[in-house]
Amino acid sequence: MKVVLEGEEKEIETVWMEGETVKLIDQRILPDEFKIFSAGSVEEVAFAIEDMVVRGAPAIGATAAYGMALAKMLGREMDVAASILKDTRPTAHDLFHAVNHMEKAIQEGLDPASAARRYADDITARCKKIGMNGNNLIKDGDRILTHCNAGALATVDFGTALAPIRAAHRSGKGIFVWADETRPRCQGASLTSWELLQEGIPHAIIADNAAGYYMRKGEVNLAIVGADRVAGNGDVANKIGTYEKAVVAKENGIPFYVAAPASTFDFSLSNGDQIPIEERSPEEVLVIRGKNIAPEGAEARNPAFDVTPAKYIAGYITEKGVLSSEELIMLSE
Ligand code: MRU
Repeated sequence: MKVVLEGEEKEIETVWMEGETVKLIDQRILPDEFKIFSAGSVEEVAFAIEDMVVRGAPAIGATAAYGMALAKMLGREMDVAASILKDTRPTAHDLFHAVNHMEKAIQEGLDPASAARRYADDITARCKKIGMNGNNLIKDGDRILTHCNAGALATVDFGTALAPIRAAHRSGKGIFVWADETRPRCQGASLTSWELLQEGIPHAIIADNAAGYYMRKGEVNLAIVGADRVAGNGDVANKIGTYEKAVVAKENGIPFYVAAPASTFDFSLSNGDQIPIEERSPEEVLVIRGKNIAPEGAEARNPAFDVTPAKYIAGYITEKGVLSSEELIMLSE
């Protein structure tokens, strides 16, 4: 992704490996600071995933792939490393897909660092195809709603939901993006807006509860979100708040698309109710930037994802084209 640092333009990926260190853009401190986090052990890679130094399903997968490579290079037991990494965040299917992929690659005797690098490059190639395929859905002048961050930061580069947006902008279409702020961790406000600014894509951040207002006023004509896990019937787990946006979009006749690579699809599950939903610390709801926003002793709940039934989804933007829920089986590899 293009990043402008102190006036200088750079191309950088979300995660990569240098020798025996996994390097990550530290997404916990963006947009205030741009720093690289270094993980030199499987435990540090697991910490980076759990504490959300890195987040977004495909980026979590690529980080875990590098974590498995690191484990092998450090002489760790592969099954122990796999369970440490899998035990970090339960919803994103890419995590499990990547760890299983790397276990197989290592068993086959492939060089671990090269296998992880290939996994990450493959994710980027798929995201670029998602961008091309999704760009066909976007018209000049479209006003597009997105939720959370499904951009380059959430993949390795380019993004999923932001890939068609990036491609449309680069192909000269005049588009505008509504970026839901995405409480409680505000990935929309802090990360999506940051990425769009780097590319010069016109946008505005809106409070999560403002999306319905703009949809009803006719100021949104397309919605594109990412996914953490898609069940075999097309039900989608994505960042909390996605479900209500999809329902309101349908009510207002706005096509609601989900963009994701094959690694996010879990054909072992027949429907979305079977997807494990991560519940994170209530602190993320009660405290903003170190400051309490609720009375002392208040309780809170913090589900990180919700499930949007397939009936609300106009189509799935994938590397194999824009598919209907009946066509998803084409993605099983
Ligand atoms: O909790 P996060 O920030 O990891 O959640 C991320 C999302 O919900 C994204 O929309 C999803 O992972 C798709 S990323 C391309």
